Amino acid sequence: MGVLSGFPDGFVVGVSTASYQIEGAVHEGGRGASIWDTFAHTPGKTLGGDTGDVACDHYHRFGEDVELMAALGVDAYRFSIAWPRIQPDGTGAPHPDGLGFYDRLVDALLARGIAPTPTLFHWDLPQALEDQGGWLSRETALRFGEYAGHVADRLGDRVSRWITLNEPIVHMAQGYAFGTHAPGRELMLGALPVAHHQLLGHGLAVQALGGAPEVMITNNCTPVQAASDDEADRVAAMVYDGFHNRLFNDPLFLGEYPEFLAPGLAEVVRDGDMATIRTDGGALGVNYYNPTRVAAAEGDLPFETRPIEGVPTTAFGWPVVPSGLHDLLVGLKDRYPNLPSVYITENGCSVEDRLDDQFRIDYLDGHLGAVRRAIADGVDVRGYFVWSLLDNFEWAEGYRQRFGLVRTDFDTLARTPRDSYRWLQAALRERG
Ligand code: FCB
Repeated sequence: MGVLSGFPDGFVVGVSTASYQIEGAVHEGGRGASIWDTFAHTPGKTLGGDTGDVACDHYHRFGEDVELMAALGVDAYRFSIAWPRIQPDGTGAPHPDGLGFYDRLVDALLARGIAPTPTLFHWDLPQALEDQGGWLSRETALRFGEYAGHVADRLGDRVSRWITLNEPIVHMAQGYAFGTHAPGRELMLGALPVAHHQLLGHGLAVQALGGAPEVMITNNCTPVQAASDDEADRVAAMVYDGFHNRLFNDPLFLGEYPEFLAPGLAEVVRDGDMATIRTDGGALGVNYYNPTRVAAAEGDLPFETRPIEGVPTTAFGWPVVPSGLHDLLVGLKDRYPNLPSVYITENGCSVEDRLDDQFRIDYLDGHLGAVRRAIADGVDVRGYFVWSLLDNFEWAEGYRQRFGLVRTDFDTLARTPRDSYRWLQAALRERG
């Protein structure tokens, strides 16, 4: 049976990228500085001091990248829009060159029958907004709603599937709690307002996008297992699940924060916010990479993660557990009977630098199988996007981690399809 057989008609297969990770051209088209420019240029923050200054130079080579996608045969392309290209200072009239760039990209995709699926925020906040508090400030949520409106005005006639924010948990935790990503704040639990303001921004963006057929937030979700049956480990796993998954999903589908986190958010939640955030209908984007094994700990946080033994690991060291994706999806449906349709907006793995990437083929094959089983078990999954089309700037890891179906040579910027690209191409052809 072909890897793409057995999916419902209309099931979307796509590839995914993000602006700062691929575009480069950071000083062109009137683009303002983002927090990632600042962070990557701060010594010691990224592996080898790598920055996104050039990245894959997609800003100049997007035509070639669209052709790669067309030849691959995907139905959709998830990319992100760099807020500092649209509003260099995070506020005010949109910059015509920034809008123009995404306008041309959208048209190029549509000309090749590929559905544009933009994400409005994939972590590259305008630095000017960070200087005023970033997502710690409620103002940023309001600005985000306005920005979404500008983009919708320009692209809304041709884009029908939108993603508001990417992985608010990762942006909050790594960016504001631990400081391992931009903006590099180390506030630990003091980062919690960032969760609420991102969710509020999502709700305001949904409003700004008006009647767009499909609008979703993309949450990074992980099924959490306790390291042992001990009471302390089981509690630690519940707390971890609360922070990572429920903090961002409960408000959407239950209209409230997990009970143990609500007091920490009371100061920033205002009347009406929860109604703005709560989603009826729409869709949910899910990024899945691996499950998480958790034990009790005595430190700043009451939990710590433990390795998952006995499974292969990616070049990043992430455990490969395809069944975790099935369990995650079924678990979401169990917890939220009103769960809308779901898109897997990212799934993939980093592999050592080679073209014969059977490891990635096995990874994708296993995870697509898990999605198929989840659909058979009643979860309304409408699509699956591979992370990533091409090797790119992997945040603090710089260019070392290679997630691409297509290899990028970071000296010449040449793109070379890998075996996994050919494999997916054959599967898409077979599907027809
Ligand atoms: C996700 C990010 C994406 C990419 C993958 C590997 O957390 O959304 O940009 O870095 O991890």
